[in-house]
Amino acid sequence: MTAPGDTPPEEFRKQLHELADWIADFRENIETLRVAPDDKPGAIRAQLPKQPPEEGESFEKILADVDRLIVPGMVHWSHPMFLGYFGWTSTAPGILGEIISAPLNVNAMTWRTCPAATELETVVIDWLRQWLGLPDEFGGVVYDTASVGIMHALAAAREEAAPSTRKVGLINRDLPRLRVYTSDEAHSAAEKAAITLGIGEENVRRIETDADFRTDVNRLRETIARDVRHNFKPFAVIATVGTTSSASVDPVPEIAKICREERIWLHIDGAYGGAFAMSPEYKWVSNGWEMADSIVINPHKTLFVPLDFSVLYVRDLERLRRVFTLVPEVLRGDTIEGEMNYMDYGIQLGRRFRALKAWVIWRSLGREGMVARLREQVRLANLFADWIRNDNRFELAAPVSMGVVCFRFVGPVTGIADAGPGSSNPATADRLDRLNSAIVERINASGRAYLTQTKLRGRTVMRIGLGNVLTKEEHLRKAWQIIQETASKL
Ligand SMILES: Cc1ncc(COP(=O)(O)O)c(C=O)c1O
Repeated sequence: MTAPGDTPPEEFRKQLHELADWIADFRENIETLRVAPDDKPGAIRAQLPKQPPEEGESFEKILADVDRLIVPGMVHWSHPMFLGYFGWTSTAPGILGEIISAPLNVNAMTWRTCPAATELETVVIDWLRQWLGLPDEFGGVVYDTASVGIMHALAAAREEAAPSTRKVGLINRDLPRLRVYTSDEAHSAAEKAAITLGIGEENVRRIETDADFRTDVNRLRETIARDVRHNFKPFAVIATVGTTSSASVDPVPEIAKICREERIWLHIDGAYGGAFAMSPEYKWVSNGWEMADSIVINPHKTLFVPLDFSVLYVRDLERLRRVFTLVPEVLRGDTIEGEMNYMDYGIQLGRRFRALKAWVIWRSLGREGMVARLREQVRLANLFADWIRNDNRFELAAPVSMGVVCFRFVGPVTGIADAGPGSSNPATADRLDRLNSAIVERINASGRAYLTQTKLRGRTVMRIGLGNVLTKEEHLRKAWQIIQETASKL
């Protein structure tokens, strides 16, 4: 009897060829699929066996079930008519990068457990730093998501504001309550981090924004001063470059000045918008970054790297290491002093070889290729904004700064004055909220396109994100037609 090992090489080769065709077919025919399924919750689960498999099954059978059950039950984020969130993208080189990582399957926790993974991570982090124009005193680490990056940044900030928290915690110490500040348009990852770090979500102070959804700096200054008078300890400010709803950009230089004066950690959430700094006409988004303590960038949102890949930069990375370094006995032999051990820079021990897919896609496109694609997204966003301006049943709900457009159906011409986000008639505005939400729901349920809805100034607006390399002008035109038709019907 032969030992139960792996699939025989010849059979594996055959399966790989079959899979290669499957991937190429999927990519080529993606436009023929519904963007989102029309299943009710539980419909997919109902078709899957409840019992775990007792005996092994063939790959052919499993792949057939992917086609039959999984693909139709998905929202296809790579579909050219997917305009949700930030217009997610897959690319052929990105897929190839993911495929190469699969057989390597290493654990990049220390330099020694995989020198190439560790050194390549350092290299791609530094490439991105150069592209962004960040000073070389910033070092970085790759995590899965920006939420995790923000949590680590605030952990480092907390340690500087309340030394020895790493060792003895926050409880039963004679410390003022820590407070963190961010705008009312910033991402909820701030509260998630405060929950995790024992800061408490109530100690995330949301600062009002101005007419363009940017942090009101005077309010920020006043709130910090009031908190100091009431014996709180302001310890961090999060400024956003590219907010989640409207991609607005906070006045970072002014915020940085306050942080310097008050000796507060400045974190920049550039998860979406930070990467635009690569493009010369967007250099302005990085104004003030040299005064930041940490910055998060999500190349899986804006720089074509497949999910997940988020980079946290910290000015003097040692400030982060100090909080998290810890060598378990079992790894002592695999830890070389002086070499980069990425396990020292966060709570995660095991780490996948994420740098490989970034290296493949960034080499394939180059800076020029990426900037050209970002420019096309911005061109499409502005084109869409022009269509909105030319149809008086709709209005723009926020300035268009990057690849995001927020807009609102405001009804027939006679209703406009009374119906916009600043409407003085709450009943009309409430009705329009429901209508805007219903338009998005109806379109998403149709499977023909996919949009997002959000709230700005408390009012529901529709939102599209351009980012998918497969989304062309003709797709956007079709989406605009679907939006107009759906609005007319409702
Ligand atoms: C501005 C901003 N920050 C942070 C996040 C959280 O990103 P992640 O999903 O990588 O945690 C998002 C997600 O959309 C975001 O838009």
